[in-house]
Amino acid sequence: MANFRNPRANRPHLRTVSITGVGSYLPARVLANAELEKMVETTDDWITTRTGIKERRLAAADEATSDLAVAAARRALTNAGVTAEQLDLIIVATITPDMLFPSTACLVQHKLGATRAAAFDIEAACSGFVYALDIASHFVASHTYNTVLVIGAEKMSSVIDWTDRNTCVLFGDGAGAAVLQNRPNAHGLLTTCLGSDGGKAGLLELPGGGSACPATIDSVTQKLHFLRMDGKETFKNAVNAMVAAANEALNRCGVTVADVKCIIPHQANQRIMSAVAERLAAREDQIFCNVDRYGNTSAASVAIALDEAVAGGRIIRGDLVLLVVFGAGLTWGAALIEW
Ligand code: UT7
Repeated sequence: MANFRNPRANRPHLRTVSITGVGSYLPARVLANAELEKMVETTDDWITTRTGIKERRLAAADEATSDLAVAAARRALTNAGVTAEQLDLIIVATITPDMLFPSTACLVQHKLGATRAAAFDIEAACSGFVYALDIASHFVASHTYNTVLVIGAEKMSSVIDWTDRNTCVLFGDGAGAAVLQNRPNAHGLLTTCLGSDGGKAGLLELPGGGSACPATIDSVTQKLHFLRMDGKETFKNAVNAMVAAANEALNRCGVTVADVKCIIPHQANQRIMSAVAERLAAREDQIFCNVDRYGNTSAASVAIALDEAVAGGRIIRGDLVLLVVFGAGLTWGAALIEW
């Protein structure tokens, strides 16, 4: 087991915060690269070599983000041994809410029957799950709440222009969830490092439908309700920000990358993950990847990966786990956890 410094330990009035259960849900429909070849001018070879993605999942027409979130949440609650009635707070990280308001978290609260829970959404794009973990951890650490449910959930297929080969091959739908509680005699979440740069908001955006550009016939014609991305610039920023956030988290806890059992990067692109691993001097077997099966599921990405890593035995109690994320905003973050 690694020796580490717990930055929260010198604040004895705060409780430690552990993830006591995780769960995920992927919709059944698989969209393989071969099918995309029939939809836009692309090839399985281009998608595989440029992104590492082989297939992604698509939610059904009658499945909204809240439905994906609820399915993942039920599994996380079961794994944590917690009932919906015990929840004090639900935070949903998403950029594809069921609607502009009310929040998806409120819809999830009702569908779960979490009658005691407060509920709200946060929006930090693909970094959303780590942002939400950070927010949730403060409520538990400060004794405000005992049991908090954090969910990353996205129906990215609802904001994709299926005629744009630059973006439609990249994204997928899914959800992942985690229950946060104080577990006595455990360190749990050691530190979280968050960052943002709104000066680069235009690199990755969905411009239509908000107060700056409300929905009109014109906005629909101009395709302003679909995601747009400058892929190359986003790529460069992603690598730099993820490496910096990861190093900051490791330094704060006095550990090196070799002490970490499992690194879970945001699953946007295999080449981004390889570049981050190389710059951190991490071994291949430390990096968890499932981008080949699900593509980029935005806020759900590291939550789904965390659940799969735990279920597959890649992470056991006492291991150090590093989540590192990047997304629109721009936003980025890292979380170092003693499992
Ligand atoms: O989750 C939030 C953060 N998101 C990311 O981190 C994504 C970051 N960006 C990326 O992952 C990559 O930049 C992409 C996968 C989006 C693109 O890879 P790239 O190596 O940067 O390719 P490119 O944008 O430079 O495009 C190269 C060529 C272009 O053709 P020309 O202009 O060189 O003739 C594109 O038109 O590839 C073309 N292209 C495609 N060709 C076949 C773009 N998309 C496709 C496609 N199939 N699907």
